[in-house]
Amino acid sequence: MASIPRIAVVGSANTDLITFSDAFPRAGETLFGKSFDLGFGGKGANQAIAARLCGAEVLMVAKVGSDLFGEATIKNFASFGIDTTHVQVVQGTSTGVAPIFVEPNGQNRIIVVKGANDRLLPADVDAAASKLSRVDTIILQFEIPLDTIYHTVRFARAHNIRCIVNPAPALPANLPDLLGADYFIPNETEAELITGRSVQTVEEAQACAGTLLQKGFRRVVLTLGARGALIADASGSVHVLAFAVTAVDTTGAGDAFIGSLAVFLAEGVPEKEAVARANLYAALSTTRIGTQKSFPKRADFEAEWTQRGPQAR
Ligand code: RIB
Repeated sequence: MASIPRIAVVGSANTDLITFSDAFPRAGETLFGKSFDLGFGGKGANQAIAARLCGAEVLMVAKVGSDLFGEATIKNFASFGIDTTHVQVVQGTSTGVAPIFVEPNGQNRIIVVKGANDRLLPADVDAAASKLSRVDTIILQFEIPLDTIYHTVRFARAHNIRCIVNPAPALPANLPDLLGADYFIPNETEAELITGRSVQTVEEAQACAGTLLQKGFRRVVLTLGARGALIADASGSVHVLAFAVTAVDTTGAGDAFIGSLAVFLAEGVPEKEAVARANLYAALSTTRIGTQKSFPKRADFEAEWTQRGPQAR
């Protein structure tokens, strides 16, 4: 039997404050929303939970604030069996929070207040080096300081560890510092910001992925929401279709994709099938309300994959 993947996430942890509403207020207006949900989120934390639910051993390297949200976040990681040795509390700082607004069709709008996430520094990565050097894969996103991300990409390269960079949310970054990544995985918005090219169609996604490869990335996976994902490298590109579902809340779907993909790749699943599986894992997450709590367990995922996966291979 293949060994259990060991995955580290160097990234953010937030508390999600999710409001469901039919409409959103204009300046000066007050409206009643339909319902509210409080949950654990943050792109890094979500990816860690997805990887754990898919069966990996997970190490989280993160910072939370000295408040109720920070304490609860650490307990939440521990309840899933995630290694929290390097999740530290920053005194006098708030935990990251994300007010999220969800429309009736499941689309969301998010404001992130980074709080303690902004205090995760290269020195914290060095402090975790002995554990980090033993993982198969390191995952990074853009809710922590860019210098920490660049430093971790170099660390992964130096230790020959697979490195996945998910440039979310969209931010201008110094691309040469990210080229050591094995996988660069933006969504349409992020890819548009980085390349300056529109990504409205699969053809435009192919052209955009080509631009990213020209900039020096070795392998790009461009996620396309309901249109699936595009894998591109020097040998060409492959469009991997999405799975049709009725979405009620798309929050965290991108994170479900990244965390599950890291596990499937580490298990040795061929790349196209790994992306198809991650597409299904992400799609299933949109059929339930909330962020981490919408992510399926591996057994439930496998039951769906058995029914729906073969045509995607
Ligand atoms: O990707 C979804 C996540 O973005 C939410 O959990 C929120 O915390 C923000 O980080």
